[in-house]
Amino acid sequence: MKILVTGGTGYIGSHTCVELLQRGHEVAVFDNLYNSGIDVLGKIKQITDREVMFYKADMRDKESMRPVFEENTFDAVIHFAGLKAVGESVAKPLLYYQNNIAGTLNLCELMKEYHCKRIIFSSSATVYGSPKTVPVTEDFPLSTTNPYGSSKRMLEGILSDLCVPDKEWSVILLRYFNPIGAHESGLLGENPNGIPNNLMPYIIQVAAGKLPELGVFGNDYDTPDGTGVRDYIHVVDLARGHVNALDKAVSSSGVNIYNLGTGNGYSVLDIVKAFEEANKLTVPYSIKPRRAGDIAVCYADPKKAKKELGWEAEYGLTRMCRDSWRFAKQCL
Ligand code: NAD
Ligand code: WQD
Repeated sequence: MKILVTGGTGYIGSHTCVELLQRGHEVAVFDNLYNSGIDVLGKIKQITDREVMFYKADMRDKESMRPVFEENTFDAVIHFAGLKAVGESVAKPLLYYQNNIAGTLNLCELMKEYHCKRIIFSSSATVYGSPKTVPVTEDFPLSTTNPYGSSKRMLEGILSDLCVPDKEWSVILLRYFNPIGAHESGLLGENPNGIPNNLMPYIIQVAAGKLPELGVFGNDYDTPDGTGVRDYIHVVDLARGHVNALDKAVSSSGVNIYNLGTGNGYSVLDIVKAFEEANKLTVPYSIKPRRAGDIAVCYADPKKAKKELGWEAEYGLTRMCRDSWRFAKQCL
């Protein structure tokens, strides 16, 4: 198939390009390079020995995306492009709604115009808010507490609405849990700018001696060791979920929703310990107050994705920690 990957030079998008190319698909990418570099294309080539077609385009400017559709006929779009920093979205809500929502509307208008009506969308477990029980299934109620999360929830609604009057649309909403890890080659991974917000990038900076210690945000949650529990998933497993979702997008119409997680919950201290053991390093930490907006526990029930997409995560925590560190060492 010929697939358009929006945001394809980013963290999850680049790993998905690799998996698509390795399964024989043709891939075109567009990205405005706001949070990624053009060098990623060379890394994808190095890993797969195949080229992706690249367009520099910004979703907010519809006409900048038009050549992508003029010059190709796509079987489906995998839509990663977007802004994703929760704290920044609280400070700059208009930026987030403009980029994520208005940008996606532009994309969908072009998809409709050029008769490509299959889209796989990067949603997030953040749409479940603070789930009342775990594991979380796809039919849990939705609630969000920040503009980033709201943009995902609204986009889920907008994409679902497309399917009501037009039965040709096929929309797959993938709700990711906590992606970490990197490509085993050490060539692709996540390298955020500035002081990281997320746990694994922060641990890496501490392990590298760039930050003195990890602040563990709260040890008084109702969890086995008092620290927050999440479902960490290897980015390569996540990428493979998208390739499997393509078959579903082609064979069905309407909206289909899947959790992409492992089904395992690990605490902050579990992650610190796993990282130390996997990489023979020490990660100094101290307990800090809870972070505003954090929830105690969130992990997926991934059975629906297994049943309907034939997908399940393969990699465990040791592998995630080893691959994260291998990539990080090359960037530091
Ligand atoms: P990323 O920032 O590495 O990749 C996103 C890419 O989109 C970047 O390369 C960026 O330059 C590009 N982009 C942003 N705005 C654009 C625009 N207006 N036009 C064109 N390109 C634009 O992020 P990621 O971690 O790979 O996340 C990919 C998607 O998955 C995002 O939609 C994100 O919200 C979602 N998601 C991520 C996580 C996570 O923890 N990483 C979890 C759940 C969902
Ligand atoms: C994980 C755990 C923290 C940093 C966020 C977004 C979510 C999704 C993924 C996109 C929590 C603890 C963290 C630190 C810590 N992104 N922690 N010290 O909050 O589950 O999810 O990223 O959709 O929308 O909200 O991930 O990695 O920030 O935190 O103790 O320095 O690590 O309290 O328990 P989170 P995270």
